[in-house]
Amino acid sequence: MRTIVKAVAGALLASTAMVAGASAQTKEVQMLHWWTSGGEAAALNVLKQDLAKEGYGWKDVPVAGGGGDAAMTALKAMVAAGNYPTASQMLGYTVLDYAAAGVMGDLTETAKKEGWDKSVPAPLQKFAVYKGKWVAAPVNVHSVNWLWINKAVMDKIGGTQPKTFDEFIALLDKAKAAGVIPLALGGQNWQEATMFDSIVLSTGGPEFYKKAMNDLDESALKSDTMKKSFDNLAKLKPYVDPNFSGRDWNLATAMVIKGDALVQVMGDWAKGEFVAAKKQPGTDYLCYRFPGTDGSVIYNSDMFGMFNVPADRKAAQVALATATLSKSFQSAFNVVKGSVPARTDVPDTDFDACGKKGIADLKAANEKGTLFGSLAQGYGAPPAVANAYKDVVTKFVHDQIKTSDEAVKQLVAAINDAK
Ligand code: BGC
Repeated sequence: MRTIVKAVAGALLASTAMVAGASAQTKEVQMLHWWTSGGEAAALNVLKQDLAKEGYGWKDVPVAGGGGDAAMTALKAMVAAGNYPTASQMLGYTVLDYAAAGVMGDLTETAKKEGWDKSVPAPLQKFAVYKGKWVAAPVNVHSVNWLWINKAVMDKIGGTQPKTFDEFIALLDKAKAAGVIPLALGGQNWQEATMFDSIVLSTGGPEFYKKAMNDLDESALKSDTMKKSFDNLAKLKPYVDPNFSGRDWNLATAMVIKGDALVQVMGDWAKGEFVAAKKQPGTDYLCYRFPGTDGSVIYNSDMFGMFNVPADRKAAQVALATATLSKSFQSAFNVVKGSVPARTDVPDTDFDACGKKGIADLKAANEKGTLFGSLAQGYGAPPAVANAYKDVVTKFVHDQIKTSDEAVKQLVAAINDAK
């Protein structure tokens, strides 16, 4: 909460111009989000159309920047100015922070009427419910431990599904030998850290991931296994093209879609780009779990955090929340977005093979206790810790931290500082 208040003051000046005149009307939903890529915009359209049918207009507050850091800065400014959006896209611990700051609304009545308690899985309720009150509507479940592979390139190099990290390296070598960019990466801190989540799980296994990345256990964070995870991250660097710094995630996905690169390691929002480009799984592209992480799911979930809007804007908010968790929306939206439903009772009929796998994997992992929050994506620890993590990972990728030993030391120090 303190972090938010401090940041609010800082962000205010910078964003006043942007939020000026953004006050919302009673018959419209004002939504802050970072869904600006082709696939994301297509998914958002499903919601706009559903709300239009109910007679509600849409006031868009898009803040570009995958991972949502820029959007969260803009949100702080709006909230500080007392200019609450109807809802904002948010990730995990951020919802809890705003709830603790006392600015969230209460959707409990809607939740009761719609039976959210029974249909939304417990790991999501942990973030959508604060002190017994529903403060957010979960939109989806994304997971980050995926590989997205161009099938034609895979065929050309005679590649097969890599089951281990070493096999992954061997596959990347084949692409390199064939003159294709092996690994499409966007050199932005959140993309690098999202990929590192998978590397940690692959290197240390499920128990280690949980200890280090969710429990922030210091012995795990400074262990040889964490060092080895950084070693593995270093091993991937030679397979990235020289222009990767600062590249947006969807441009990296486009490299794979076009066949300029073999593979991207990215959350399944990447699949939304393949869908938007009318590409078919199995024919045009392949989705595999990150090598060595089969059986576990590292998740994040987009939530619509619901603000404590004035009474005359409440009906629009209730309409938004009701639409968001309706079964038909959960299917239609997530088919386009690349994610899977945030309710357990939505049929997988309309999902493609990767979506069906995503739904089955999520269910199995939830039952087995191998469903873990993504530290890069706001579900491992509060934002200050996640930012410290992203910072160390990106410094390592961009050679500002030279060795794995040093990376581990800085990671422990930065996380301790942020806690
Ligand atoms: C969100 C996704 C989004 C991705 C890239 C993630 O943090 O959960 O919904 O598509 O960022 O913008």
